[in-house]
Amino acid sequence: MKNRRSCCCFVVLFVAVLLTAVILLLLLWKPRCKGRNLYSQAAVAADSVECSEIGRNILLDGGSAVDGAIAALLCTSLINPQSMGIGGGAIFTIYDASEGRVTVINAREKAPQMLEPDPFTGCQKPGPQWIAVPGELRGYEEAHQKFGKLPWKSLFEPSIKLAESGFPLPKYLKKFLEHQILKPQIINSSLCSLFYNITGSPLDIVKYPQLAKTLKAIAKNGSDEFYSGKIGQDLIKDIQEEADKNSVRALTLEDLKLYKASVVEPLNISLGDYMMYTPPQPSRGAILSFILNILKGFNFSAKSMEESQRSQTYHRIIEALKFGNGQLSRMIGSKVQPRDISKLLSDQFAESTWQRIDDQVHPLQYYNTEPRAREKYATSHISVIDRNGNAVSVTSSINYLFGSRIISKSTGIILNNQLADFCSADRIFPDIKAVTGQQPPSSMSPSILISRDKKSMMVVGGAGGSMIVSAIAQIIMNKLWFGLSMTDAIEKGRVHVNSSNSVNFENRSDVKEAMTAMKQKGHNITEPSLVPSVIQGIFRDHGCIEAVSDTRKAGKSAGY
Ligand SMILES: *[C@@H]1O[C@H](CO)[C@@H](O)[C@H](O)[C@H]1NC(C)=O
Ligand SMILES: *[C@@H]1O[C@H](CO)[C@@H](O)[C@H](O)[C@H]1NC(C)=O
Ligand SMILES: *[C@@H]1O[C@H](CO)[C@@H](O)[C@H](O)[C@H]1NC(C)=O
Ligand SMILES: *[C@@H]1O[C@H](CO)[C@@H](O)[C@H](O)[C@H]1NC(C)=O
Ligand SMILES: *[C@@H]1O[C@H](CO)[C@@H](O)[C@H](O)[C@H]1NC(C)=O
Ligand SMILES: *[C@@H]1O[C@H](CO)[C@@H](O)[C@H](O)[C@H]1NC(C)=O
Ligand SMILES: *[C@@H]1O[C@H](CO)[C@@H](O)[C@H](O)[C@H]1NC(C)=O
Ligand SMILES: *[C@@H]1O[C@H](CO)[C@@H](O)[C@H](O)[C@H]1NC(C)=O
Repeated sequence: MKNRRSCCCFVVLFVAVLLTAVILLLLLWKPRCKGRNLYSQAAVAADSVECSEIGRNILLDGGSAVDGAIAALLCTSLINPQSMGIGGGAIFTIYDASEGRVTVINAREKAPQMLEPDPFTGCQKPGPQWIAVPGELRGYEEAHQKFGKLPWKSLFEPSIKLAESGFPLPKYLKKFLEHQILKPQIINSSLCSLFYNITGSPLDIVKYPQLAKTLKAIAKNGSDEFYSGKIGQDLIKDIQEEADKNSVRALTLEDLKLYKASVVEPLNISLGDYMMYTPPQPSRGAILSFILNILKGFNFSAKSMEESQRSQTYHRIIEALKFGNGQLSRMIGSKVQPRDISKLLSDQFAESTWQRIDDQVHPLQYYNTEPRAREKYATSHISVIDRNGNAVSVTSSINYLFGSRIISKSTGIILNNQLADFCSADRIFPDIKAVTGQQPPSSMSPSILISRDKKSMMVVGGAGGSMIVSAIAQIIMNKLWFGLSMTDAIEKGRVHVNSSNSVNFENRSDVKEAMTAMKQKGHNITEPSLVPSVIQGIFRDHGCIEAVSDTRKAGKSAGY
């Protein structure tokens, strides 16, 4: 009897322990990566939810990070046609997990062979003379040949469908179409019928029937269709017609045929536990590296953003941004010297610059800065990580909003005005010979950071012209040094410094106090620019993936 009872007790106890263990296991097994911007295996952060989802679907179909990025880029040319398209250019930074290597594909536009005799008169004026040779599709082709897994054609299919059937006018695009200054200019351009009805109201549904045909041809025949085939011939015919109307020179079929994307080594610097990889010139990766190399000397931590240290921290960041602007002249021109780049990447130069940051605000000469024009900002960035740990950070642009505002009517392609980026560098490009075949300097700096144990990774980049580098630097600091989540790192208000040392904070409550403190310190505080910097970033550590599209452009990430 006694024995049976204790036996019974034992069984009950045993069952209770077992149940507890099962419940505990279930609790632990509950998927951990649930919540806003969190995913467990793979993710795409594009600047619209539509394109993040198209990229994500490609990853779900077994596509690589490059496949997902290309599909999302093609989609972005429809959803944000003011920012980028196949009539523009792109720079890719790609991490290949199986080789453990980072590669840069430079597909930025190039100047054509025959330019206007004095190309820089009338800088900023519209016209076909500003169209540079598009590199976008050669970039996709190169990336896909090296790192693609799905057929080329399948990357185009979702966007062809979208272009054919149309979709409700995206809110962000509508803002531009209704903008007081932009609207009359776009209505007066060849883009009018694409976006407005006959009474001049933005359309409710956008469709791209001509571009859909073009994308179909390129999906079938490859990018040669654009660079030497029927699409290319039609494109050049349209551009030449525009050029004749304006009595100017513009690019030719020969220019298209000559275009090649280049595959180059990234620059790298070490930041604590991480290596940062970023593109060399014509991109601005060396300046980004220099700024972070200076700031790492302060050993920033979460404490540095606490109230007692916050003002000092902002002052230090602003000073480093000024020194960064002071090095811009090294980065512009056809003959950027390798030793200048090495200097920008070196710890010695960063340290001697770090020593010059004190508690004072100094005149312009102290930082070596010379005022140069603000760069315009029609650009788009996409960050991708696939389930094998491959990553893509790609920035694409047509330069100004809607590029040259010229659409080729037989192909539906909106053309860039990237040659206008030589304007801010006109002293370094004194004549056309110096410019022919060159790529204009660019602020695009798509970057990838990888921890030494390769388990943590950040993929980051953005849009916003001259603000791109300062924005990326702040995201990296927010995440790696100040300990914010990726979402908070991107959401947090940012500060920028132009090349006249004017400091502008975003109009956000979380940086109001810092702004007041910087004004008291003697910095020149000015109004923020109307169009913000826009960052897309992904962070992956041992556990989850946090993929974030900037809410400043109403973006949203997608993943699984
Ligand atoms: C419209 O464009 C034409 C040619 O591009 C230009 O001459 C004219 O001034 C423009 N009109 C307006 C209202 O912008
Ligand atoms: C143009 O669009 C506006 C706003 O949607 C609408 O009220 C108007 O009737 C449209 N006009 C034409 C001719 O379709
Ligand atoms: C593909 O190229 C071939 C040969 O150049 C051409 O005949 C065909 O029309 C092209 N296909 C498309 C869809 O443009
Ligand atoms: C960093 O760049 C240098 C110079 O190109 C190269 O020799 C080195 O291998 C790179 N380091 C890493 C970790 O990629
Ligand atoms: C930052 O940390 C390094 C290494 O721990 C140390 O040598 C250096 O003095 C620190 N710098 C500052 C400004 O505290
Ligand atoms: C910098 O910003 C200030 C204030 O907006 C402006 O006056 C100045 O022209 C800008 N400098 C450059 C080089 O754009
Ligand atoms: C800043 O934002 C507030 C609230 O959104 C707005 O009322 C104010 O006009 C803005 N100021 C500037 C300078 O844009
Ligand atoms: C602020 O701007 C004024 C006028 O452009 C200039 O003279 C002054 O040096 C600037 N101050 C700083 C700290 O850059």
